[in-house]
Amino acid sequence: RTKAIIDCDPGHDDAVAILLAARHFDLLGVTTVGGNAPVWRVTENALRVLELIGRPEVPVARGAAGPILGSLPRAGERVHGATGLDGAELPRGSNRVITKGAVEFLVETVMGNPGTVVIATGPLTNLALAMRVEPRLAKSIARLSIMGGSATWGNVTAAAEFNAWADPEAAHIVFSSGARITMCGLDLTRQAAVGPETIARFRAVGTHTAEVVADLLEHYRAAAERVYGTPAVPLHDPCAVAALAAPELFEVTPAHVAVELRGEETRGMTVVDRRFLGAEAAEQRRAAGAPEPNCRLATRVDAEGLFRL
Ligand code: BDR
Ligand code: CA
Repeated sequence: RTKAIIDCDPGHDDAVAILLAARHFDLLGVTTVGGNAPVWRVTENALRVLELIGRPEVPVARGAAGPILGSLPRAGERVHGATGLDGAELPRGSNRVITKGAVEFLVETVMGNPGTVVIATGPLTNLALAMRVEPRLAKSIARLSIMGGSATWGNVTAAAEFNAWADPEAAHIVFSSGARITMCGLDLTRQAAVGPETIARFRAVGTHTAEVVADLLEHYRAAAERVYGTPAVPLHDPCAVAALAAPELFEVTPAHVAVELRGEETRGMTVVDRRFLGAEAAEQRRAAGAPEPNCRLATRVDAEGLFRL
């Protein structure tokens, strides 16, 4: 089994991403980052999710409390609530967070376990810091699957997606690191939106975990409906897990992605060079002097396949 670490800020969709990662990978650890809620809360949530699925032995390492510049925004609370995981009863975690911090854990675990993939479903602060601490890290991650950014419009602002917007400097460091990145942005995850019928299907699986997942998703869906006016909520973070666990469900294309750091209206926007999408555009790209692709951009997902998974 492929070894994996998930770096996350649970978060309703992060919680489902942890379940999926634990099921499909040899999960070496969960690292947490302030994002949807303060880091102590999302860390507690990660412990609870692991307890729920009977995997309390998976190490949880706490990471950055806020972005590289500025402070942790509170926008995540609008959909995830004050706890980051409002709406379901989760067991108290029986294990404790390990003493090693997330940055050190990421460096040591990836460097010590060749072939490890990393799935990032929160702001990219921990990964950026880890890449600074260990310059060989970026090239040592077998693949880095990111839920973040957008090739079209944003969610937290008109231009920016939450994870990229919450720490644009970190996103910039990661996207320009030379790591083998797969990007699952909003235009992909919006194809995998769950409405009441899909949530009912999950509940009908009949296990306790399914019940909790359905409760969490129903809360998430209703909150998103209040904020965005749409009855179905994108299952953002599980896409980043599935992109590696079930690549046959996805269409991907090489693309260059830059992160906007200075725009007045566009800070945190992921600028996808759509002029030269795809491998077949390589010649034109060179002729135009445009930058080489720095990631595989996921453009389509088979939503039904994802829900089955
Ligand atoms: C991302 O932001 C968070 O609210 C979700 O957990 C997801 O990672 C979507 O923009
Ligand atoms: Ca998240």
